[in-house]
Amino acid sequence: MSIASNCSVLFRKQALCSHPWIQGIRASFAVLVWLLLVWLLVVPGLTENAVAACSSQDNASKELVSMSQLNTAVSSLQPSATLQINELSERLIREGRDIIRLGFGQSPFPVPEIVVDALRQHAASKSYLPVKGLQPLRETVAAYYQQRDGIKRTADSVMIGPGSKMLLFQLQEVCKGELILPSPSWVSYEPQAHLLNKPVRYIPTSLDTGWRISPDQLDQLGPPEKDTTRLLILNYPSNPTGATYEPEQLKALAEAARRNQIIMVVDEIYDECRFDGEHHSLAKWYPEGTIISGGLSKWCGAGGWRLGVMIFPHELMLLQDKMAVIASETWSAVAAPIQYAAITAYQQPPEVKAYLGHCRQGLKAVAGYMQEHLTRSGVDVAPSSGGFYLFPGFDKYREPLAAKGIKTADQFCVKLMEDTGVALLPGTAFGFPEDRIYTRLAYVDFDGGALLKAIAQKSGQPLDSSLDNAFVEKHCPKIAEVCRRIDGWLKAL
Ligand SMILES: Cc1ncc(COP(=O)(O)O)c(C=O)c1O
Repeated sequence: MSIASNCSVLFRKQALCSHPWIQGIRASFAVLVWLLLVWLLVVPGLTENAVAACSSQDNASKELVSMSQLNTAVSSLQPSATLQINELSERLIREGRDIIRLGFGQSPFPVPEIVVDALRQHAASKSYLPVKGLQPLRETVAAYYQQRDGIKRTADSVMIGPGSKMLLFQLQEVCKGELILPSPSWVSYEPQAHLLNKPVRYIPTSLDTGWRISPDQLDQLGPPEKDTTRLLILNYPSNPTGATYEPEQLKALAEAARRNQIIMVVDEIYDECRFDGEHHSLAKWYPEGTIISGGLSKWCGAGGWRLGVMIFPHELMLLQDKMAVIASETWSAVAAPIQYAAITAYQQPPEVKAYLGHCRQGLKAVAGYMQEHLTRSGVDVAPSSGGFYLFPGFDKYREPLAAKGIKTADQFCVKLMEDTGVALLPGTAFGFPEDRIYTRLAYVDFDGGALLKAIAQKSGQPLDSSLDNAFVEKHCPKIAEVCRRIDGWLKAL
């Protein structure tokens, strides 16, 4: 019963209740009680909402977490040069500028149709899969590497992860000790080490040595610290330089790595993108101490599918087991449909083999075109052997650049983009010295699907025949445009 009706009962019990004067007071009192009730029930709600609104305004202007509350490894991280360049290019695009983006290393080619079909067929697969990966996929990947390298592999050798980047991070996470990297090296290895508080040591390389490390450099590292695992990540064909290693060079490096107790992590994610199709793995000569990293992102054009693989020798299985423990507590397993589709990719049916042949031909033609034209413009740039990248150096233009206030690779990339609309990444993002004006160029800004069709239509030619410059200019117009813009800009310095 409500307060108002309680009051009415009370009044009814009184003899005076029937008096008109008293009835007037009764009516006014009932109205007052109703008003009081409304105030009690509604106003606090209004007040709460108002307070909440005010406090959310306060929160918008007040950070809830400060730098000192972050993990030390994270608080010292700076936004990468890559991010800065991307932001600048996005701003210029918003302003209506014609920007050619050669900063991002994504495959320009579509995923082979037969692999996409396999994904469609398994779209309904919905169960969690084993942490180390789907057994038939692990078997297929093992067979692929066994055939490629001639080293006995079983499903147990293989771990599947959500992209090789994550697997590389976890590998670093389970290993105590320093990380050794050639300079320049792919952008993410060093920040990953920093996140894990791992010391990083660089081995310098140069254009003169074909951007390769030497066995002597491994000998100079000296013995590892007691109770540590010393990892060296070697990526070939290389991002950023396009360099790779021949069997004799790998054999000599393998012997030096064994001598110096270095665990070699060979990042062979661009293996199938070596233009001549003749990739060799260091694992052939150092099977017990080499972990191979790979995946679908580059040769299968499936970066967004997030599937990486890591192949362990039986001697390093402890590392794989510990990574699986971390995986079970973090990402659990790679998406089931993707793992099923990856079986088709790694089986490499004739359709995939033909696709790879055409991709290699296209990449080789574009890389060759750019290297030739940049060299003609006075740029120092080694030919690429595979992958998506060149590492052009502009040190020869140091003087005129300095006159314009450009002394570092970072400054160079900003100015080049502002003046010409060409987006490259500075060598510093790859652990290369700041005062060397080197940049990474990803020659992938073209329609890969159309290029593959055009290559396929050049019937009657062997797959490895090179395509001429006119073909590149017709099918990759932005690539030719970049060469023109850089040439014009350098001439006007
Ligand atoms: C050298 C190298 N390694 C590893 C990766 C990571 O590839 P993902 O995580 O897509 O397998 C990349 C991607 O750009 C790369 O260039």
